[in-house]
Amino acid sequence: MVKTKILMICLGNICRSPLAEGILRSKLDERYFEVDSAGTSNYHIGDTPDQRSIEVARKNGIDISKLTGRQFQKSDFDDFDYIFVMDKSNYKNIVYMARNQSDKNKVFYLMDGLSGTTQAEVPDPYYGDKNDFRNVFTMLNKACDVIARELTAQ
Ligand code: 4NP
Repeated sequence: MVKTKILMICLGNICRSPLAEGILRSKLDERYFEVDSAGTSNYHIGDTPDQRSIEVARKNGIDISKLTGRQFQKSDFDDFDYIFVMDKSNYKNIVYMARNQSDKNKVFYLMDGLSGTTQAEVPDPYYGDKNDFRNVFTMLNKACDVIARELTAQ
């Protein structure tokens, strides 16, 4: 059984993308889907997620406390079917690393799911407060509902 593989991307891989990873994983059947996350930067390689992301996930029944940060690499284009980015800066950085059109076709804005074109962004909560993390959770949760539905329908 070949699983569909999904990669969530943000800048640091400690606030938004580990949260998105945990949320989407909770909505998909692990027999058919694998979810991972990575950062475009090398700032937090090996680090566990930001405490505020761990906390907002925990309050919603999701454990992301044991995830560790890593940096996106070109081979991720080979390993993953769908790559979801949080903002325009992530999109630019990832597409810049694409080797061909097939790599580029795997990159989607998370808030758009598989079909939208708004290029809406998930704001970086790193310099924010708990409330910003709550808002990010709500945005990610809605987007992941749409993505889970789209992926399951295929
Ligand atoms: P993330 O947030 O991209 O959602 O993980 C950030 C985390 C760390 C930094 C920036 C954004 N940083 O500059 O260290």
